Amino acid sequence: MIGFLTKDRKSKKIKEKQLDPKRLPKHVAIIMDGNGRWAKKRGLPRIAGHKAGVEALRDIVRACVDWGIKILTVYAFSTENWKRPEEEVNGLMNLLVEYLRRELLDLKQKGVQIRSIGRLEGLPTKAEKELIQAEKETVDNNKLILNLAINYGGRTELVDACRKIAYEVIEGKLKPEEIDEQVIKNALYTRELPDPDLLIRPSGELRISNFLLWQLAYTEFWITDIYWPDFRRGDLYQALVDYQQRERRFGGLKI
Ligand code: FPP
Repeated sequence: MIGFLTKDRKSKKIKEKQLDPKRLPKHVAIIMDGNGRWAKKRGLPRIAGHKAGVEALRDIVRACVDWGIKILTVYAFSTENWKRPEEEVNGLMNLLVEYLRRELLDLKQKGVQIRSIGRLEGLPTKAEKELIQAEKETVDNNKLILNLAINYGGRTELVDACRKIAYEVIEGKLKPEEIDEQVIKNALYTRELPDPDLLIRPSGELRISNFLLWQLAYTEFWITDIYWPDFRRGDLYQALVDYQQRERRFGGLKI
């Protein structure tokens, strides 16, 4: 059991909680939402919220390494986020580059492998290059996979998967009747990863926002009002404790 002191946000009481390392989710996914509202509440520009969001990410990555979570997928930039003002989009791309430059050495030392999902070729060259370089330099690490969803959209991913499968059919490598769930899984950006066990959605929104549409079919959801920049390891801990109370049946019955 992993012992940990966490603050119950409602009662403000400090409680000792226990986590069972054998029942940890292998793959945690997070929609890092609420950065803009966090900034607005403080009279700050939106980019200040995103910067604070990077600090939350640093803390959560460290917590995942400390507690033995194997895969963390975070939604950093969606295919829809291009609709935002140019200044915010550029600010987010610069934050990504800065994050990778500033954190790479530490992430390497901690055994973090960086991966990404999304249409990387649609990113500004600087961001694409930095990401490819970070992936190359961390490819042998195996403590935690930090999977960055960037220029990612669940529907775009399914479009890309359909195209890939269609080409295999045209080339005679696959018959239409051979297309099954495994073939589709293997055509997704996440083909090498298991589906997320736990999805964390901060900022109180009750939607999926085009994130991992195929992969979240049986994922447990944990939703909180906390804005992402305020989210810290104590909140992750609470999500993990709650996850361990859930009974996962995957459409079957309790044995
Ligand atoms: C959603 O909040 C958040 C984003 C669109 C960007 C998330 C990016 C980061 C946390 C930092 C950059 C990431 C890396 C990997 C360095 P929102 O802006 O929609 O918030 P709002 O709904 O309150 O407006």
